[in-house]
Formats: sequence, structure tokens, C-alpha cells
Amino acid sequence: MPLIALRQLLDSAAAGGYGVGAFNVNNMEQIQAIMEAARETQSPVIVQASRGARTYTNDRFLFHLMAAAAELYPEIPVVLHQDHGNSPETCISAIELGFTSVMMDGSLLEDGKTPADFEHNVRVTREVVDYAHARGVSVEGELGTLGGIEDGVGSGEVHLTDPDQAVEFVARTGIDALAVAIGTSHGAYKFSRPPDGEVLSMNLIEEIHSRLPDTHLVMHGSSSVPKDLVDAINEYGGEMQPTWGVPIEEIQQGIRHGVRKINVDTDLRLAMTGAIRKVLTETPDEFDPRSYLKPAREAMQGVVAERMRQFGQAWHAPELEPKPLREMQALYA
Ligand code: G3H
Ligand code: 13P
Ligand code: ZN
Repeated sequence: MPLIALRQLLDSAAAGGYGVGAFNVNNMEQIQAIMEAARETQSPVIVQASRGARTYTNDRFLFHLMAAAAELYPEIPVVLHQDHGNSPETCISAIELGFTSVMMDGSLLEDGKTPADFEHNVRVTREVVDYAHARGVSVEGELGTLGGIEDGVGSGEVHLTDPDQAVEFVARTGIDALAVAIGTSHGAYKFSRPPDGEVLSMNLIEEIHSRLPDTHLVMHGSSSVPKDLVDAINEYGGEMQPTWGVPIEEIQQGIRHGVRKINVDTDLRLAMTGAIRKVLTETPDEFDPRSYLKPAREAMQGVVAERMRQFGQAWHAPELEPKPLREMQALYA
């Protein structure tokens, strides 16, 4: 199946009342794990690459791996998405490469750290929307900033999304999906105790959804950081501190209130690292990379398949008839 636009997938998810996991990738094993999980659960899926991932892989390698995924899993609708584009140039280069969706994260300046003002955000996001929609490609914008600086994305300051500004932002930019800041952060260390309403504002999602019922909402920093994955790392020599992520029930509540795209990276990193540590600890004489990359791939597949069932995207792949970007272009026009 050809890569499809985010808008087509999220419109379908809204009609079906489900959410779609957007999983970050940096290498072949992660792509394979996600595609196998999608086949296992018959799920449409979003595969996303950060700027760091594009640099790490040399993005042409990444794009061709995704082309192979589309060819080898013809029954799976896949969106290839630029995660946290920091400038129109980054988004345009992703579109030129063949990405079918981009995030223009204008909530931060180009350094990916300094909070930007509202007018800057509107200006750069609108520029990307004009360029992308003319080519049938979808755009995610962000309003408000997440916490967390450990992965190099984010200001470290939390500014929750303001619902009034969200209405104006969507009207002025024409985005397909809006990432909202509700108290989550990137990385493994989100909360130092199980999150309650004081640190995770799920009611903000309900308010924004009631004001913008036709805008697809996006939750970043949505890894659940399961204790068993952290324990597996520590059991084999890791030194992770106690930590809490976003409970699945909270994400499911979000999905009932307009959340359609759920970004997950950290949970796959944890699964991969734990599996590799186990092999290297238990068989210290092992040096064939396949001996640890295969269990790592299987561990990631397990996590992704579980999320696909929890988010509700499982079994929805057969419903999607892929629309070529040409058709999306006409729809946007
Ligand atoms: O948004 C953050 C993602 O987890 C990607 O992280 O920039 O380290 O690739 P990265
Ligand atoms: P996690 O760090 O919670 O997996 O979030 C990933 C993310 O939001 C990517 O944009
Ligand atoms: Zn993010």
C-alpha cells in the first residue's frame, strides 16, 4: 500500500472513535517491529521520525526502509510523519523526501528549546500548511509547550494549551491536527508519583475538544513507562530511577474526547534496551548482533501490538482505501 496522508487516517479514526499510535523510529528493527505488530493486529499506523532520527539514519536510508515496509506490508495503511519539525525548511525537506505528514512545531523557536510567541507559531505553521496541502500532505501544529528536556526537544517549561488560543490557532493556520500540552513531557521521567488531575490536565482535552470538535487532537509524551520494562533494565545492570508515565486509562479517556494521534517513543526504547541488556548479561560471550537485536525487535513488537489494541486502532486496517496524495491535494484545494 502507498504511504497515506495523516488526514485520511485520522478522519477515519474519528469516524470509528479510535486513536492511532505514532511510533518513533531510528533503525530497521524498530520499523520491522512496528510493521509486524500492525500485521498481527491489522492496524493502520503512523511511523514518525524526529530531526535526530533523520540525521542519525541519513534520512534517505530511513525513507527507503519505509518504502520497503509499504511494499512488504501491502495490507497496512501507513503514514510517514516528521516529528517536531523545527522550521518550515525541515518540513519542506521531509515532504520533498516523500513524508506524507509533517509536524511544524512552532511552539518553540528553531532551536527547539526557546518558547516562541503566538504570532511566530501562526506564521511558520501557516507557511507549512500552504506548502504541504498544495501537495496533499497533512500538517500537525502545536500550541503550548511540554515539559522535559532530556531528549533535546522541549523548553523544560510547561505552558498548558489555552483553549481560546487553540480556536484562533486552528482557524488561522488550517492545520489538520493539533498537539496540545496538558502536562505530559518527553522521556522516561514524566511524573514522580502516579499522575492525578493536578499534574495531568485531561479535562483540558475535553474543553478543547468541545470547542474544536472537528480538529484531531494529538498527545505527545504518551509513553506509559511500564514498571516491568524499567525493572527489566534494572535487573540486568541498568540504573533507572523510579518513575511514572501516562496511564493507559487516561489516554483512553483522551481518545473518547477527540485525541486521535498518540506519540510513543520511550516505551519502545525501554523494551529494546531491556531485551539487549538481558542477552548481553546472560551470555557475556555473545557477539553476534542478531542474538540481541532479534529479542529486542520481539520485545518492541509486543509493546506496539499492546498499544494498538489499547488505543483501538486494531482491526481497522481493512477499512481504509488508500487515497493517493493527488486526491488529498484536490480535497484540500
Ligand atoms: O519528541 C521526541 C521523540 O522522543 C524523539 O526524540 O529527538 O531523541 O529522536 P529524539
Ligand atoms: P514519549 O517520550 O513519552 O514516548 O513521547 C514521544 C513523543 O512525544 C514524540 O514526539
Ligand atoms: Zn513529542
